[in-house]
Amino acid sequence: FLASRLLSHVGNLPPKVQQLGYISRGLKVAVVGSVGGIGQPLSLLLKHNPQISTLSLYDIKNTTGVGVDLSHINTRASVCPFEGKNGLKKAMDKADIVVIPAGLPRKPGMKREDLVDVNASVACEVAFAASEVCPGAMLAFITNPINVIVPIVATILKAKGTYDPNRLFGVTTLDVVRAQTFVADILNVDPQKVNIPVIGGHTGRTILPILSQCDPPFKGTDKEREALIQRIQNAGTEVVNAKDGLGSATLSMAFAATQFVNSLIKGIKGSKDECIVECAYVESDVTEAQFFATPLILGPQGVKENTGLPDLDDEERKALNGMLPILKESIAKGIKLGEGMI
Ligand code: NAD
Ligand code: LMR
Repeated sequence: FLASRLLSHVGNLPPKVQQLGYISRGLKVAVVGSVGGIGQPLSLLLKHNPQISTLSLYDIKNTTGVGVDLSHINTRASVCPFEGKNGLKKAMDKADIVVIPAGLPRKPGMKREDLVDVNASVACEVAFAASEVCPGAMLAFITNPINVIVPIVATILKAKGTYDPNRLFGVTTLDVVRAQTFVADILNVDPQKVNIPVIGGHTGRTILPILSQCDPPFKGTDKEREALIQRIQNAGTEVVNAKDGLGSATLSMAFAATQFVNSLIKGIKGSKDECIVECAYVESDVTEAQFFATPLILGPQGVKENTGLPDLDDEERKALNGMLPILKESIAKGIKLGEGMI
């Protein structure tokens, strides 16, 4: 009753007061793996979002220090750190969004797929906890290998009766961020003004930037186009090799994940003036792969509309056909692993 009184009151307030955001419902966002290389800068960047009222942090250890440090920042979100037994469920309890940068990163010479044994169990813990304490939350998995992890989680959530395909995402935003940056370098334009869909999955050939739809247009030779696509597909390995044993992309990933979570929040808040579009790896009927990344329109319930495959030229169509068997194999593996964890 009080809430409905408050809401009707809010509608009567002058627009300026509404804009100040004093009375907008704040969201609870949980970061699982918040002490890690991605987790810390991601938590820092999320602490800036005035729509977040509770920033809940979980890691297996050292969360308290990171939490106290962040809590001194003079922005709206209250920082609540958790660790240890039951910490995960406490952190995720009634969360609106859970973002998961938890798990092992690659070292030089490793493929993302080599991480699956360790990281599947992390994803499984999160899936069970979500089913219990925040079944309506949007879940955004950063943990690699994304192509396998998301089907694992979907399988567990289905078994628990809490699966909503519109609310489970594999975060592939970094592929788009990289594509924008590398295209902008070549065209000598502002990377923020480059629009380019990146579809498929998040490893090697399954990362497919659609250069034919790039805006502003990319008009390189076939050789330049091939080199650009390869750079985007191998960008993760470029960072792993440059870090030389100290992990994989963390800062650019934190930036990309913040963009994605901020878009989820804009979707939840139901922006009237803006169409919120992000590419992400979700359950999909766009191709014969059961999970596939395409540009998605986001809304209050997560995916509002899957915009489907962008127009493809002949080369892109060939590349899509070439990647589908790889993606389908990863998905089948994920579903099998998920079934083994129920
Ligand atoms: P990191 O080792 O620096 O941090 C991982 C954190 O996860 C650590 O703090 C660790 O304590 C925590 N953790 C481990 N098991 C956990 C559990 N069961 N519950 C909660 N927390 C747990 O690694 P990172 O560089 O931050 O990378 C994290 C993951 O993100 C890796 O799997 C990496 O491959 C992946 N990644 C994905 C993308 C992408 O584009 N999707 C980009 C970069 C990295
Ligand atoms: C990336 O693309 O940077 C991540 O997937 C991390 C990695 O292992 O490459």
